[in-house]
Amino acid sequence: MLIGEKERLSGELVELANKYGKNRSALLPILQAVMEKYHHISDVAMQEIADLLEIHPVEVYSVVTFYSFLKPERSGNFKIRLCKTISCDMQGKEKIKNVLENELGIKFGETTKDGRFSLEWVNCLGMCDQGPAMLVNYKVYTNLTAGKVKQIIDECRSEFTSHAVQKEG
Ligand code: FES
Repeated sequence: MLIGEKERLSGELVELANKYGKNRSALLPILQAVMEKYHHISDVAMQEIADLLEIHPVEVYSVVTFYSFLKPERSGNFKIRLCKTISCDMQGKEKIKNVLENELGIKFGETTKDGRFSLEWVNCLGMCDQGPAMLVNYKVYTNLTAGKVKQIIDECRSEFTSHAVQKEG
């Protein structure tokens, strides 16, 4: 991490601590905010958060590695989580898995080289009567078919492109 980036991160963490508080109960919302922006929680961020909240870095690390929505390693801008539990399994999750892997050129547990997509398994999303089901970031998609999955990925790609164009503009 470059010095400028580290300073920027420190400033953002101070703002988050001002917003959520400088105690243990602020840990999860701060981690979620960092994850949302950077798509991972770096070692530097974990250390800074520990210093800010005056807790041990191991405590921060254990929270990051406990929750599946938090990651120490870089994950995609679009985190696709396919339900692997029995109802979705019986409703064709394996076929959806293959479509996702073929479309994105990665296996489950991996992130695309451009950093846009990651594929992960997740347990029951509570949509068992509408399987197969998956999450894309925090949005749930149900009754998945090959065509629907391709359309969702296309939408993500164009969303990413329009964000990139907006940033350049
Ligand atoms: S089994 Fe997949 S949503 Fe419940």
